Amino acid sequence: MCMPVAYASAQLPVYLDDSAPIEERVEDAVGRMTLDEKIAICHAQSKFSTPGCPRLGIPELWFSDGPHGVRMEFTWDDWLHAGWTNDSCTALPALTCLASTFNPALAERYGKTVGEEARFRKKDVMLGPGVNIYRTPLSGRNFEYMGEDPFLASTMVVPYVKALQANGVAACLKHFALNNQEKDRDKVNVEVDERALNEIYLPAFKAAVEEAGVWTIMGSYNKYKGTFCSHNDTLINQILKKQWSFDGAMITDWGSAHDTREAALNGLDIEMGSWTNGLTWGVSSAYDNYYMAGPLKQLIKSGEIDEKVLDDKVRRILRLNFRTNMDRRRPFGSMHTPEHVAAALDVAREGIVLLKNEKAFLPLTPGNLKIAVIGENAVKKLSIGGGSSELKPRIEMSALQGIKEIFGDGVEFALGYASGEPNYSMEMPSPYDADSLSRAAVDLAAKADVVLFFGGLNKNYTQDCEGDDRRTYDLPFGQNELIERIVAVNPRTAVVITSGNAVAMPWLGRVPAVVQSWYLGSMGGRALAEVLSGAVNPSGKLPFTIARKLEDYPAHQGGDRTYPGVDGTVHYDEGIFVGYRWADKHKTKPQFAFGHGLSYTKFEYGNFASDRKAYAPGETIRLSLEVKNVGAVDGAETVQFYVSQAKPKLPRPVKELKAFAKRTVRSGETVTYDAEIPVDALAYYDDGLHSWVLDDDTFIIHAAAASDDIRRTLKIKVNNKNIAIK
Ligand code: GLC
Repeated sequence: MCMPVAYASAQLPVYLDDSAPIEERVEDAVGRMTLDEKIAICHAQSKFSTPGCPRLGIPELWFSDGPHGVRMEFTWDDWLHAGWTNDSCTALPALTCLASTFNPALAERYGKTVGEEARFRKKDVMLGPGVNIYRTPLSGRNFEYMGEDPFLASTMVVPYVKALQANGVAACLKHFALNNQEKDRDKVNVEVDERALNEIYLPAFKAAVEEAGVWTIMGSYNKYKGTFCSHNDTLINQILKKQWSFDGAMITDWGSAHDTREAALNGLDIEMGSWTNGLTWGVSSAYDNYYMAGPLKQLIKSGEIDEKVLDDKVRRILRLNFRTNMDRRRPFGSMHTPEHVAAALDVAREGIVLLKNEKAFLPLTPGNLKIAVIGENAVKKLSIGGGSSELKPRIEMSALQGIKEIFGDGVEFALGYASGEPNYSMEMPSPYDADSLSRAAVDLAAKADVVLFFGGLNKNYTQDCEGDDRRTYDLPFGQNELIERIVAVNPRTAVVITSGNAVAMPWLGRVPAVVQSWYLGSMGGRALAEVLSGAVNPSGKLPFTIARKLEDYPAHQGGDRTYPGVDGTVHYDEGIFVGYRWADKHKTKPQFAFGHGLSYTKFEYGNFASDRKAYAPGETIRLSLEVKNVGAVDGAETVQFYVSQAKPKLPRPVKELKAFAKRTVRSGETVTYDAEIPVDALAYYDDGLHSWVLDDDTFIIHAAAASDDIRRTLKIKVNNKNIAIK
């Protein structure tokens, strides 16, 4: 019988010994590498991998998209699917849906699912999650992000990253930073004040670094203050690596490096890209010609750049290896487990938002109901398209399938409208005859007891898709006209919008119910049907404002200057006043507010108290609130805690979200919610001082069901002298 070979650590050099401290392994490995080997690991060897160091047995690093699940395999060197048959995944709902759950425990299950499937697929770095702030409803990638509020995004991203990395797979937070539009993303220069940068656009990245210890960060394509973000001294060297003590690797977006000297000196560690087979075609961008390849070697050999600069990059990349594929103790991952499917289903269930429900139109009680299901989004595969977050799910249950499963035979379907194939290069007119589709849908609606219209966007080009933005705030493909025609023959029509962005709703007054759904992944159809039938009581809350019209958004207040930019520069003139912060300041009543979401039951808020009346910096405010379910069915309520400052020295938003808590409250039951707010979280960023400032002042804490639905308030004082004030 042959005995297993014992890898006695005494025989292994330190860098190969995963019982040795990582920093010792790093130093040992750096000392053994040649200049060429160091240069090699700082750039791609293929579309989704870097070469490692074959001579020393340091493995390649393999990267994969995307935030919602593990993307299908690609050919070595271009954007072609490799056509494998074992690379389908569990598709989680898009991150906007996760944000809508306001449930950090689900974010943990989400990250665990993605991490286990990535590990099983032998990936070392997952390219996500994305946490760019929702600034304009036209941005093509808002569906990949977590809404307009930095506190919500920060709270949800931390458990995702921790749970993903527990599998020995790195998360790669993106896109750092200020990637808030897709239009001209590869060149647009963002001008934003330092206060908004620190209060709005950076917090989620900071939380992932300081609270979750994220191992990689991806630079964005755009510029900040005239310098590309992927090699931007302020963002990377000063803020990320110095202020936040980030010890991981900074990678480009694909093709987002533009200058060797800047890349070397401004903190870029790995250059990724594509468009070359490395040998013949695309030779101009062959890997040896990458900015961080031959050109970098030249600068070092000429002495213009010290090799120590390169060594810091190498250390960060080796640290990534030792945290991932050179740690033999990491788990082995898994694929398509019941737990993964359950996670996808639960995120979808809790993320769906009931926007409007007049006279309890919903839920529909399954039974002998003739239901007309109309609209392409009832059947369309929505895990494909959208750009790099596309997935090949093993299962993807459509809304129609889910509804038939629960409502049985009385369900009939009409397409109603058609969008054509997803296409990234141009807007494809529908190849279908819109009139005949519309007539058939209206005929079906006229004969039904109830109509369920499934519309929205669909991740086709300019319809929630990477690379460009929406052209309009309106629903595409003639949906608004179709909804009007349907409602004219059958007013008992509920509208289900699937999108990653807000849309205009000109028909809102003529429909009794509206549901905001999302790209719900593998189990979306089941979740939607459960919500529509009442098997699940909806508990989602909007992670962004749905304004009545596009011009109500601050990004669209200043013409091209504020979006998409003039002469290559976009100005965030609104500063910190993004989303509900803007609506509050200008008293612009939204169609549906940030944090809005109805339930099939009713919650009443009772006693609201803080543990003290006065606090000093560094302390924690402890809140308790009683919530009673006075309706007939159990439900889950997310209470949001917003804070206002009485007399700030600088203009502040009317209120800012600083805590939230979600609990299930059974019918007739009263539950006490507990929440904490660190006193230091009440500070604001002072551009003049380049630092955070906490005033001695009175603060009002609002307990709310939505940003426009405040139920209880209380006052507390902050003073540095910590004198208890009666
Ligand atoms: C894309 C995206 C980025 C993605 C990368 C690899 O351009 O911006 O999010 O991870 O390239 O596909």
